[in-house]
Amino acid sequence: MSAPQILGTGRCVPERVVTNDELGRTLDTSDAWIYGRTGIHSRHFCTAETGADLAETAARRAMEAAEVSPGDIGVCLTATCSPDRASPSTACTLQGRLGLPEDTVCFDLNAACAGFLYGVHTAHALLAASPRPYALVVGVEVLSRLLDRTDRNTCVLFGDGAGAAVLRRDEGRQWHTLFGTRADGHAIWVQGPGPERAAIHMDGRAVFRFAIEVVERSIRQLLDAEGCTLDQVDLVVCHQANQRIIDHAAKKLGAREGQFFKNMETYGNTSAASIPIALDELARSGALRPGMRVLCVGFGAGLTWAGMIFQW
Ligand code: UT7
Repeated sequence: MSAPQILGTGRCVPERVVTNDELGRTLDTSDAWIYGRTGIHSRHFCTAETGADLAETAARRAMEAAEVSPGDIGVCLTATCSPDRASPSTACTLQGRLGLPEDTVCFDLNAACAGFLYGVHTAHALLAASPRPYALVVGVEVLSRLLDRTDRNTCVLFGDGAGAAVLRRDEGRQWHTLFGTRADGHAIWVQGPGPERAAIHMDGRAVFRFAIEVVERSIRQLLDAEGCTLDQVDLVVCHQANQRIIDHAAKKLGAREGQFFKNMETYGNTSAASIPIALDELARSGALRPGMRVLCVGFGAGLTWAGMIFQW
C-alpha cells in the first residue's frame, strides 16, 4: 500500500477584497441575503494579478514549508477551470517560473471544484514512475473574469485564489479515495472561449441538492473503507461552496462542533483552490498536525465529485 504524504502547503489570494456591501451597491442584493444563504461575507478578486501569479506564490510557499527545492520536483499539476490561457497550461508556466527540471511532468487538469483532489490522486500515481520523489499540486482559479457581474445568482458566490501542496509517496501509509461523475451540462456550466460572453451559469437549487447528496454519501463511504467512525476523524475539509451544505452534512453525520472546517466567509467559493487554501490555513494555524486523520470531499461542475481520507 502506498499513500501521499503532504509535506508542505501554501496559499495566495489577490489583494483586492470585495465585500457583500460593495456588491450590493450595483446589484439587487445585500450582505444579509448573501451571508444568510451562503456564509460568505467577502471574497478576493484579481486586478493586475494573473492565475499564474497566484499559483506561483502559493507553490513557492508550499515548497518552502516542505523544505524542497525546484530540482526535487518530478510532477507539477495545476487544477483549474479558469486558466489564464487555454494553452500553454498554467503548470507549464510554473515550470519556467519556478525553474523545475525540463523532464518534470507538467499539465493542467479540470475537474472543477473537485480538481485539487483529482490532482493529488493523479500526482500520487505519476510519482510511481517519476525520477524524483516530490510532486507539486496547485488549485488555482480566477473566477472573477468568468462572472457575469449583473447576475446576482452567481456573481456573489465566487472568489479568486490559489492553494498548493508538495507531496511524496509513502509506501508505509494507506489512504482511501473515491471519484464520481454524473454528466450534467445544465446544473452548472462555464462558457468557454468563443463568440459568447464568458459566464458561469448555475441552477443553484439543483447543485445544492446534488452537493447535499454526494457530500454525506462520500463521507459515509470513506469511513466504511477506512473502517473508522466520524469520531475518529480529526478534521473534515469539504469544498467551501456554501456553509449550509457543510452544516447539513455535519448535522446528518453527528459531527462534533468545529470538526467540519469552514472558511468561505472571507474567500467565497474558490472552486479548485478551496480545499488547498483550507488545508494551508489549518496547517499554518497549527490546527492540522502530523498524524492527524483528515477527510476531504470536493464537488462541483461536471457534475464531478471526489473524496479522500488520509493521514496528515
Ligand atoms: O462550487 C460549485 C458548487 N456550487 C454550489 O454548491 C452552489 C449550490 N447552491 C447554493 O449554494 C444555493 O442554491 C445558492 C446560494 C446559490 C442560492 O440559495 P437558495 O437558497 O437555493 O436560493 P434560490 O436560488 O432558491 O433563490 C431564492 C430567492 C430567489 O427569489 P424568488 O424567486 O424567491 O423571489 C432569487 O431570485 O433569492 C433570490 N436571489 C437573491 N436575492 C438577493 C438569488 N440570488 C440573490 C442574491 N441576492 N444574490
